[in-house]
Amino acid sequence: MRSFQYHNPTRIIYGEGEYKNIGKEVAGFGSKVLLVTGKSSLKRSGYFDQVVSSLREAGCRVSVLEGVEPNPRLELCLKGAELCRRERIEVIAAVGGGSVLDTAKTIAVAALDTGDIWDFFLCKRKITGALPLVTMVTMAATGSEFNTNAVINNEQTGQKYAIHSEHIFPKVSILDPLLSLSLPADQTAYGAVDILSHIIEGYQTAPGKAPLSDRIAEAAMKETMLWARRALDAPQSKEARGNLLWCSSVALGGWTWNGWGPTTFHAHTIEHEISAATNCAHGAGLAVVLPAVMRFHSRNNAAKLAQLAQRVFGVTRYWNDTAEALALRGVNGFKRWLASIGCPVTLGELGVEETQIPEYARKIALNPEAGELDAAMAEEILRFAVG
Ligand code: NZQ
Ligand code: ZN
Repeated sequence: MRSFQYHNPTRIIYGEGEYKNIGKEVAGFGSKVLLVTGKSSLKRSGYFDQVVSSLREAGCRVSVLEGVEPNPRLELCLKGAELCRRERIEVIAAVGGGSVLDTAKTIAVAALDTGDIWDFFLCKRKITGALPLVTMVTMAATGSEFNTNAVINNEQTGQKYAIHSEHIFPKVSILDPLLSLSLPADQTAYGAVDILSHIIEGYQTAPGKAPLSDRIAEAAMKETMLWARRALDAPQSKEARGNLLWCSSVALGGWTWNGWGPTTFHAHTIEHEISAATNCAHGAGLAVVLPAVMRFHSRNNAAKLAQLAQRVFGVTRYWNDTAEALALRGVNGFKRWLASIGCPVTLGELGVEETQIPEYARKIALNPEAGELDAAMAEEILRFAVG
């Protein structure tokens, strides 16, 4: 097992009806509140008014920033930061999907900063502070409610990059299954793929042997696949929605990778370029890219991917199987499962032509977090995703 440190200060409150307590939780950090939400789902489900009432009953003065889009834009973050300064906001409440939470995290940083906020995404400066943030997530996917990340699309430069900082751990995150009952089937499936990819990316590239982390990761993957199917079959199942929410938080909350050592997230780096260009949903892009990255790693990390195939995807090992053959059967089975829950599995389905691959690969290699993922490697992986 490799050396590790583990720290996650976010207080999770899980339960049906816990949404009513958002006012009380937020008021613990200040009374001047910026409520950040998405485009329309929160109003359509009727929870927007209830959230505002809960905040007001707790004595908060509420300013609202609505309209966060999937693949969230930097421009709205800058508008939100300006609003924070003008209204002397003390705490931010984010209610929505990962895009809403990431916008709120970026606003929390930008509100206290006087420089160019994009510097943080380019890794040119280090984040030194942020307003406190309370979140209530309405879909199981990113784990943003339980981690240090925010991913934002800079529409001026065409870059979709991330920040990572302890300062943007939410203070409190409420997971209430009632809020995700309205999530449509496609987003439910894409969210499940995102959860799975957060686990698989680390699992398949871990240099260290950490058997307990492997088992935690495998359990989280199996539960995600089980509850995703259940949520698609019975969208009103609070049990399925609740289990998926917890899988999502666990997947990217840091628990699974303790002892694995440094891992890589190439599917994410590649997908962020694709969703920045095509505006596809993050999970849809991952459904196409992740199996291609798994296939790439099946060559050098065959033993780990063979373990995944057997323990998670239920692939049988025959006496004459090589680890690579087993790994590849696992990847193909996973791809079939992705298609069975309604996900795209080829670049063409995302509107990306084969002729565009070299240009995508060139841009992917420019991501400050690309590391060993150079243009040649990105191109090889993308070619696996053609058909
Ligand atoms: O905007 P509204 O109207 O709310 O609709 C949203 C949006 O159209 C809808 N939705 C959310 N909850 C709903 C609902 N519709 C009905 N009922 C509900 N309960 O779903 C659509 C997608 O929302 P979005 O927030 O974009 O989805 P997701 O949570 O998948 O977030 C994706 C973003 O997070 C980034 C992705 O790159 C992408 O930009 N990521 C963030 C990470 C993090 N912070 O740790 C890690 C991830 O790997 C990922 O990169
Ligand atoms: Zn993701």
